[in-house]
Amino acid sequence: MKAIRFHELGGPEVLRWEEAPKPGVTAGEVLVKVKVVGVNFADTLVRRGEYLVRPKLPVIPGVEGSGIVEEVGDPADKGLIGRRVAFLGQQCYAEYTIVPVGQLIPLTDTVTFEDGAATPVQALTAYHLLYTMDQIKPGQTVLVHAAAGGVGLLAVQMAKQAGALVYGTTSTEAKAALVRQMGADAVILYNQTDFAEELRRLTKGRGVDLILDSVGRATMAGSLKSLKPFGHLICYGAASGRPEPLSIFDLYENSIKVSAFWLMTVARVPELALVGVTRVFEWLGTGKLRLTIGLKLSLAQAAEAHRKLEGRETVGKIILTVD
Ligand SMILES: NC(=O)c1ccc[n+]([C@@H]2O[C@H](COP(=O)([O-])OP(=O)(O)OC[C@H]3O[C@@H](n4cnc5c(N)ncnc54)[C@H](OP(=O)(O)O)[C@@H]3O)[C@@H](O)[C@H]2O)c1
Repeated sequence: MKAIRFHELGGPEVLRWEEAPKPGVTAGEVLVKVKVVGVNFADTLVRRGEYLVRPKLPVIPGVEGSGIVEEVGDPADKGLIGRRVAFLGQQCYAEYTIVPVGQLIPLTDTVTFEDGAATPVQALTAYHLLYTMDQIKPGQTVLVHAAAGGVGLLAVQMAKQAGALVYGTTSTEAKAALVRQMGADAVILYNQTDFAEELRRLTKGRGVDLILDSVGRATMAGSLKSLKPFGHLICYGAASGRPEPLSIFDLYENSIKVSAFWLMTVARVPELALVGVTRVFEWLGTGKLRLTIGLKLSLAQAAEAHRKLEGRETVGKIILTVD
């Protein structure tokens, strides 16, 4: 089969479109013929060797997609053959991938392969940040960093839907316009303005209840200054680099809470994972949540997708189609 692989860590140029062995399926798994792959910022970190988990080379990147179940490892699962599915998996930048049965998300006829592949990582991350790590409530104030990104645009919509007052940060006016279109009450260009100062002005000195921070080094200090007493900062990424280590003594003055989130933890709590998937797909089905597919390329063009994502040239979701 054809796949995107890298044999050494590095920039987007290490991604090669080449022949790779078709994987074999064992009990508890299915073989999926991949239709669409979802690209995530974490894929670029894995490629650079900067992710939480170091890969064993060579690597087929990718952790989500959609497609059709072609083979099953266990005869008891034969009813799955031919099913349209989305999935959280591994080695997804390929024509075929293996997915554990428990990680399949059945797609109804009304959900396209593109939307299916665009949803698992980013929508579930936004959902669990707001509803598992915190319990978002009407009237609360929330700041979403990198609000025009894949997770960002979905978190803005979910927080607004929950009745929160939502602020976003992003790097350009064009991205800011999109974030406002998705419902944000105000957007700050954090590379032109001191966002903590601007937020203090917008909130009349009060600060916010909750901050979703995936930017890390560039935003951490400002985020800590922007919380209300008893506020909550959730760190879930470091697109600008890892922040300086935090001292617990910096949290006392305002009794603030700082926590960390990794979507993979949810997979270890199946009932939580199911609630997230059910609610997110229900919101997509009823139009309460809108996906923004900002870039669609073919799988062979994965390097170009990584270049644009790391270059901050994208909004919303990037997908790669398998022809
Ligand atoms: N913990 C988890 O389980 C989990 C799950 C999913 C995603 N994440 C993290 O959440 C973040 C968003 O993921 P995503 O896939 O939706 O990506 P994304 O937000 O679509 O893209 C990353 C965005 O980060 C912003 N950014 C700020 N500083 C940057 C820098 N120095 N270099 C590149 N980008 C920079 C850019 O937006 P602006 O141009 O607006 O600044 C860029 O568009 C990532 O940090 C990712 O690792 C974590």
